[in-house]
Amino acid sequence: MTQGRSRRSAMELSLEIAGIKLKSPLLLSSGILGLCWRLMKRALDSGAAAVVTKSLTLAPRRGFPNPTLVEVRCGLLNAMGIPNPGIKEFSSEIRRLKSLGGVVIASIAGESPREYAEAAGLAEEAGADAIEANVSCPHVGGVAEIGQDPGALRSVVAETKGALRIPLIVKLSPNVADIGAMARAAEDAGADAISAINTVKGLAIDIYAKRPVLSAGAGGLSGPAIKPIALRCVYEIRKAVDLPIIGCGGILNWTDAVEFLMAGANALGVGSAVYYRDLSVFREILEGMERFMRENGYRSVEELIGLAHRV
Ligand SMILES: Cc1cc2nc3c(=O)[nH]c(=O)nc-3n(C[C@H](O)[C@H](O)[C@H](O)COP(=O)(O)O)c2cc1C
Repeated sequence: MTQGRSRRSAMELSLEIAGIKLKSPLLLSSGILGLCWRLMKRALDSGAAAVVTKSLTLAPRRGFPNPTLVEVRCGLLNAMGIPNPGIKEFSSEIRRLKSLGGVVIASIAGESPREYAEAAGLAEEAGADAIEANVSCPHVGGVAEIGQDPGALRSVVAETKGALRIPLIVKLSPNVADIGAMARAAEDAGADAISAINTVKGLAIDIYAKRPVLSAGAGGLSGPAIKPIALRCVYEIRKAVDLPIIGCGGILNWTDAVEFLMAGANALGVGSAVYYRDLSVFREILEGMERFMRENGYRSVEELIGLAHRV
């Protein structure tokens, strides 16, 4: 029975983006359990077709002091400051996960085109299947600015792409006036796919301490609160470029997933849902999507992509 179901899901849900073969459109988003191979392996075993690592930089980063995460109405606000051990130290986690057969996308961040290119090259050497360039972390100076300036974005994408043989995915920020223009800049510079969106810049205030709750001040909002923003961004990017899109931002259940596909996403990132629920959310989304497809006569996920653009 289980075998029959998985054979059917492979037929209906598998797809390829930028040459990366995925057994389903669901990915674990960056920053969610992505700092150790054991947790990433658990996400793969729970139904994620691929995992995106925590963003990795050339040098280790401590990140910001606590508090770095607070739950707000309908969302999470975080300003972690990209804490990570650095790509050299993390290479063994990528190697270990690859030896177990997972699809691994290494997220990288930096403050200059050279830093991105070097970190990406090291992640490729460690065996990553693709690179996701995080140019969109709203609370880390240097990184946020790259994703808000088409010229800086082009330089980072062109130099990073030049250092790679594997596909380059560029993760865009919603904190811009025209996300379609940023996607076009990434496409012109050689990106193979777009990931959208990173978190939306926000703030929470502790009224007794009379100061922002997070030590860094502002943070990035994720979860259900940002779903309509993320959907609008994916819809606009689909109109702007022909690249495959990994849509993410507030995907909590299978109806959210179908909405993102119809807005034009080819694959889907799941992040905060793992915090609100647990890793079983991957299977639940997949089962719901399969049921919806069967009941409505769709034979493959690809038939759903971009449908909302045809009316
Ligand atoms: C605690 C936390 C840490 C994150 N760290 C990263 C990161 O290192 N790199 C990155 O590109 N995105 C990071 N993100 C953003 C997520 O990958 C995702 O783009 C965003 O949360 C929207 O999706 P969601 O609503 O499903 O969480 C982080 C999000 C959260 C909540």
